[in-house]
Amino acid sequence: MSFLAETLSKVKPSATIAVTEKARRLKEAGRDVIGLGAGEPDFDTPDNIKEAAIDAIRRGETKYPPVAGIAPLRKAIAEKFQRENGLSYRPEQVIVGTGGKQILYNAFVATLNPGDEVLIPAPYWVSYPEMVVLNGGEPRFVECPIETGFKLTPDLLEAALTEGTKWLIFNAPSNPSGAAYTADEIKGLSEVLLRHPQVWILTDDMYEHLLYTDEPFATIAQVEPRLYQRTLTMNGVSKAYAMTGWRIGYAAGPEPLIKAMTMIQGQQTSGACGIAQWASVEALTGPQDFIPQRRKVFQERRDLVVSMLNQANGIRCPSPEGAFYVYPSCAGTIGKQAPSGRTIATDEDFVSELLEAEGVAVVHGSAFGLGPNFRISYATSTDLLEEACARIQRFCNALS
Ligand SMILES: Cc1ncc(COP(=O)(O)O)c(C=O)c1O
Repeated sequence: MSFLAETLSKVKPSATIAVTEKARRLKEAGRDVIGLGAGEPDFDTPDNIKEAAIDAIRRGETKYPPVAGIAPLRKAIAEKFQRENGLSYRPEQVIVGTGGKQILYNAFVATLNPGDEVLIPAPYWVSYPEMVVLNGGEPRFVECPIETGFKLTPDLLEAALTEGTKWLIFNAPSNPSGAAYTADEIKGLSEVLLRHPQVWILTDDMYEHLLYTDEPFATIAQVEPRLYQRTLTMNGVSKAYAMTGWRIGYAAGPEPLIKAMTMIQGQQTSGACGIAQWASVEALTGPQDFIPQRRKVFQERRDLVVSMLNQANGIRCPSPEGAFYVYPSCAGTIGKQAPSGRTIATDEDFVSELLEAEGVAVVHGSAFGLGPNFRISYATSTDLLEEACARIQRFCNALS
């Protein structure tokens, strides 16, 4: 018998991290590789945020922070929810964690009993099902095909909910598809959820500020106040403020749930890094003008990538409303022969042949629960994106 826990046999390592590592290894070995696997902005953390961290160190803010987060940050988060989302939360309803990832994980530790079902729209962010499994829950998937713009519809939702569904995970703009929802579309989903009072909603709003539509961002508890009492609204500073390495995420929701998550955190990390929390206070309360500037750059890159990919044989690339990913279908390449002589039978074959032939690292769609597709992160320079897309075109046009 293995020394390792049985649960581990049910959990997969992160495919996005695996691709990033593989690209790094190939680069170190001297290959010319363009990595489009990683989900983080190429921009640097703004200077005022860095300075706030340095000041915090100088002031001696170097002791254990309060478990749920330092008071100025919980207050700044409550104010952010009011200002940007029209949501009223008291600071006691807010928890700060070591990245959005830990917030999600702790929500599952705090609520899942063995066999509880968690409904996950596919394509999904790779970590959701694994976090559910690690906590004894049962991931259930609902496929949201390219034809619905990779979006969950009221009919798809209604058909997928069961008596045993404890949570719905709702992520928009989405990683990996970039799909985003209008307030009206969220209203349609809310009406279904109101008919199923056993279901709680975990809304992952991490890409809130990376939205390229005319309509403003909307989140479930705001659109349907009757769902406020069973919604955990999660967000973080990683993507909007280019702070992935600082590891600060947060959520707000009903106080008993936040208390339970805080109790768990008290036994687990004692709270997120205090210095990074002070930096996050500055992120949320300081100047916000760089956000629309960076959003514009991302939007231009999206347009470039979508247009170039649609010129590659066998690729169909919808234009996503948000985040910094595109999720093209490679169905038109399946069954063709790659330059290596091997046949492309799956999207996993497509990405590994592409990496081998042209040195472009992307992530296969089946890792996100819906294929044959692949995910490109366009959070990298325009020059590199142009070069990568030209290589993808060359690769696809050479398939026979
Ligand atoms: C959809 C989604 N949620 C949550 C996270 C976690 O973000 P972090 O742990 O950096 O706050 C990510 C990061 O890739 C993500 O894509």
